Amino acid sequence: METKRVMILGIDGYLGWPLALRMLRKGHIVYGIDDLSTRYNAALAGEGSAFPLPEPKEREAYLRELGDLQAFQVADITQPGVLREAVERFRPDAVVHFAEQRAAPFSMMDEERAVYTMYNNIIGTIRLIYALRDRPEVHVLKMGTMGEFGTPNYDIPEAAYVEFTYKGKSDLMPVPKFAGSWYHWTKVHDTHNLLFANRVWGLTVTDVNQGPVYGTRTSDMLMGGSVEDPEAQVDERLRTRIDIGDAFGTVINKNIARALVSMALYRKEGRKLPLYQYGKARQVRGFISLEDSVEALEILINNPPREGEFRAVNQFRELLTTGEIIFAIRDYIQSAYNYEIPIEWIEDPRVEKEEHYYNPEIKVLPSLGFRPKHTFRQLLPSMVEDMRRYLDRLLAFRDVVGEVRIGWRTGIGYSKRVLKREE
Ligand SMILES: NC(=O)c1ccc[n+]([C@@H]2O[C@H](COP(=O)([O-])OP(=O)(O)OC[C@H]3O[C@@H](n4cnc5c(N)ncnc54)[C@H](O)[C@@H]3O)[C@@H](O)[C@H]2O)c1
Repeated sequence: METKRVMILGIDGYLGWPLALRMLRKGHIVYGIDDLSTRYNAALAGEGSAFPLPEPKEREAYLRELGDLQAFQVADITQPGVLREAVERFRPDAVVHFAEQRAAPFSMMDEERAVYTMYNNIIGTIRLIYALRDRPEVHVLKMGTMGEFGTPNYDIPEAAYVEFTYKGKSDLMPVPKFAGSWYHWTKVHDTHNLLFANRVWGLTVTDVNQGPVYGTRTSDMLMGGSVEDPEAQVDERLRTRIDIGDAFGTVINKNIARALVSMALYRKEGRKLPLYQYGKARQVRGFISLEDSVEALEILINNPPREGEFRAVNQFRELLTTGEIIFAIRDYIQSAYNYEIPIEWIEDPRVEKEEHYYNPEIKVLPSLGFRPKHTFRQLLPSMVEDMRRYLDRLLAFRDVVGEVRIGWRTGIGYSKRVLKREE
C-alpha cells in the first residue's frame, strides 16, 4: 500500500487519536492539529473524559514511538494562516477534518454555545477550503453526520445531488437535509460550502455522513487479544478521550457509564440512579463502533475519489432504536453483575420525531471492501470492562454522567418530566 501523508485536524479527540494510531501503525506519515477545545469546553460544562488524558506533549511522544509523526500542533484552525501554513509545510495527500465542536446538546445549551458552534465549525471548514483552493490533488475527508438528514419519510440517498422536480420541471439539487440541532446544522452548512468549493475550484472531497460512534478501544491500543475480548490488555497510554456527560456524551457511551455509576452508588449508598428513555424511545439511528469507524476511514483514505470529484458516503453499521440500546445495557448489567437498574421514561428533551421511517442507503463503503466487524451487543462486555477500570473517574462525574440537563426548547436548566418508572 502506498505511503500517504495524512493531516488529521482534531487529533486530540475521540476519533482523531485512534485514527492517528492506525495511520502511524500502517506506516503513513501524520501531521496533527488540535486546539484542545473539547477538553476545555467539556470541563466548562462540568464534564470530562472517562479515561484520563495525557498532556499533549506526552501524547506527541507516544505517537512518535509508533511512527513518522511530523507534528502534534496545538492551534485553532479558525485562525488566519494556521491551515495555510501547515498545508504549505506538510504537503498532505489527504486532510481528515474532525476539528469541530461536535456535541448537539452543548450547541443547544444557550446563545453563546450556539454562536461558538456555528463560528468554530463553519469558519474552520472555510479556512480549510481556502488553504486547499489551488490543490485539487489533496483529498479532503470531511467528517459530517447522518444527523444532517434528519429522519425523512424517504430513503436517505448516498449522493451529493438528487433530481428535484417542481411544477413539472427537474434539475439536480443538493440532497435535502433537515438537521435536528444547531450543531447538526453546522454540518449541513459545511456540506454546502464544500459542494460550492468543489464546483468553483474542483476541490476533491469525501463528505462522510457518520452515525453515532460507540466503543472504548481499537485494535491499535491493545497489547494482545481482540477488541471484543474484555480480558484483552490495553496499553493505558493509548486510550482515547471518551465523553460521558449530558452535553458531550453520545447515547451508548454515556449510558454504559451511567449504569456503572448507578451500580456503584447503590452498593455504597443504597440509592438507585435510573437510565432514561426519551419519549417513546423508538428514535432510530445508524450506529458504528470506534474500531469500524477507523477501519472505514482508512479505506476511504486509501481509495480517494477522482481528482475534482465530490463523493458522499454514509457510514454506519447497524440501525438501533434508543430504546433497544437502553434495554440491552440494563439486561447486560443484570446478567453480568446481578444488579437491576431502574428505567425512567421521560418526556423527550429534544425536538424530534419519536417514531419514524429510517432507511439510509449504504453502497460506497461496501463497494470498497468495508466489512464491519462488530455489533453493539458484541462489544458491550469489553466497553463495560474498560469503563469499570476507571470507576473512580466516573464517580467524580456522578452528577452529570448520562444525566439530562439540557432541553431543546429550554436550553440548560431543563427540568425532566417523568412519564413512568420501571423498577
Ligand atoms: N463521536 C461521534 O459519535 C461522531 C459521529 C458522527 C460524526 N462525528 C464527527 O467527527 C468529528 C470528531 O468527533 P469526535 O467524537 O472525535 O469529537 P471530539 O470533540 O472528541 O474531537 C474533535 C477534536 O477537534 C478539536 N477541535 C475543535 N475545534 C477545533 C479548532 N477550531 N481547531 C483545532 N481543533 C479543534 C477538539 O479539541 C477535539 O479534540 C467531529 O467533527 C464530529 O462532529 C462524531
